[in-house]
Amino acid sequence: MKLHQLIATEVEQAFAANGLENSPIILQTAKNHQFGDYQINGVMGAAKKNQQNPRELAEKITASLQKNSLFASAEVAGPGFINLRLHPEKLAQFAQMALQDEFLGVTKTCLPETVVIDYSSPNLAKEMHVGHLRSSIIGDCLNRVFSYLGHHVIAQNHVGDWGTQFGMLVAYLFEQNQNGRADLELADLEQFYRDAKKRFDEDEQFANTAREYVVKLQSGDPAVLKLWQQFVTTSLQHAQLVYNLLGLKLTDADVTGESFYNDQLQSTVDELIAKGIAVDSNGAKVVFLEEFKNQDNEPAAFVIQKKDGGFLYASTDLACIRYRVDTLHGNRLLYVVDARQSLHFAELFTIARQAGWLPENVQAEHIAFGTMMGKDGKPFKTRSGETIKLMDLLNESIARAKTLVASKNPDLNEEEINHIGHVVGIGAVKYADLSKNRTSDYIFDWDSMLSFEGNTAPYLQYAYTRVQSVFRKASNWDRNAVIHLQEPFEHQLALELLRFEDVLNSIADTGYPHYLANYLYQIASLFSRFYEACPILKADENLRSSRLQLTRLTGQTLKHGLDLLGINTLEVM
Ligand code: ARG
Repeated sequence: MKLHQLIATEVEQAFAANGLENSPIILQTAKNHQFGDYQINGVMGAAKKNQQNPRELAEKITASLQKNSLFASAEVAGPGFINLRLHPEKLAQFAQMALQDEFLGVTKTCLPETVVIDYSSPNLAKEMHVGHLRSSIIGDCLNRVFSYLGHHVIAQNHVGDWGTQFGMLVAYLFEQNQNGRADLELADLEQFYRDAKKRFDEDEQFANTAREYVVKLQSGDPAVLKLWQQFVTTSLQHAQLVYNLLGLKLTDADVTGESFYNDQLQSTVDELIAKGIAVDSNGAKVVFLEEFKNQDNEPAAFVIQKKDGGFLYASTDLACIRYRVDTLHGNRLLYVVDARQSLHFAELFTIARQAGWLPENVQAEHIAFGTMMGKDGKPFKTRSGETIKLMDLLNESIARAKTLVASKNPDLNEEEINHIGHVVGIGAVKYADLSKNRTSDYIFDWDSMLSFEGNTAPYLQYAYTRVQSVFRKASNWDRNAVIHLQEPFEHQLALELLRFEDVLNSIADTGYPHYLANYLYQIASLFSRFYEACPILKADENLRSSRLQLTRLTGQTLKHGLDLLGINTLEVM
């Protein structure tokens, strides 16, 4: 049984022993460790309900807790709180168990779910830009955390590989090929898109051809499909380069783009009409949602097929839900998508529920995130106001990290600088994002994210190298040594290390990666205090091994934790 659970059970029993069988105990970790490890806040409510004196009731419960060998002390505080301190030996035993377990004491879930995570999902035809960063890395982190907890994760990269812009691009590619440029490699997608758009805007004839190509594409014309495929392949190759640089788990196998659902769109619409959920409105097929009234108090209109028969983003997402439930057998569907699409997802899920495509036992959640802002408080752009390519941003971060590392440590050779610069540069960008509450906007600032102080990747990566350097100096010591917790800093560090599982579970419940980031920051800070206050290598034999064990658990927790954020660690920095 897990430490926190065990404590809760024991406290519940102490409540029960005093006639409070079903009262909530309200157990919290203490804010001030001077008074204990936990605070029990449930006595006052229980006393009120049973018309008892809270202080007297607290005294009685405390007396029961004092008899329990799990606790070193239990004391009444204020009008009826109870401060609880764990017995250091019990705490040490749990730390010991975590150290012996390859998952650091995190138990695999006994109810594994199939979690379908939709993330990254860029629109193709353009290179990935900074706007794709958040979905990609938040989704990657959730993928890792759910997997670590023993769930079955299916990543879905719902790329936008279909739609009218492809008519324009294919028409332009065709034109270029005819001009003898059959070898065109689409090397610069961005430029290619701009050129095609220019042609489209300036030449009526070309615009018409482009529209014809959309129709040809949709009706499956083989020659047009071939050109389109060339486009999709090139864009995906670009995306994969970015994924590799970021160290994401995404591969080609995770791509199920919009085009995948083409042949299911008509039947999806037809079924909604047959069920009376969608209706004809001036030729278009629309679902009117009473639940979502607009400003004029009219039901919101969710268009699923245009007047001209064309389908939309929304139609694809409906077909997609059916696929994720019926074919992929997802129990939980997560959509890591910009907060600006919140209404879309709320409406989508409502309709899918009405249609019976999203059964009650399947959860669908929009994992929304805010915008990455520049220092000026506006969405992050280049000085001239253009969107920034993700590849450029990452390369710049690596370059900055290299300069920084070289200046801090002039003894490093070039190869080392390259390696460390890469790990720190990528880690910094990811951590700056993952450590913020995802629902808010955040300011992208090179100086703060690459700082070695504060809640940053370099700080955590550095803390890890400090742990490693202890072991380089320690040479021989007993890896089975028993942990003894004597000093308050040791006690606090051990207590925090044992919260790892709770933190991961809270991410699985809520989809907030910053819980893990903040937790690791807390671990690194507590380690630093412990390191300063408690000599490790110079301590007497038993204490030395015990402290090395605690240091080892710290190192492993930092490493696993950073890995779950998708961030690498280093031996030296
Ligand atoms: N391609 C979309 C965009 O860039 C995101 C797709 C998200 N996933 C989904 N199933 N709608 O906005």
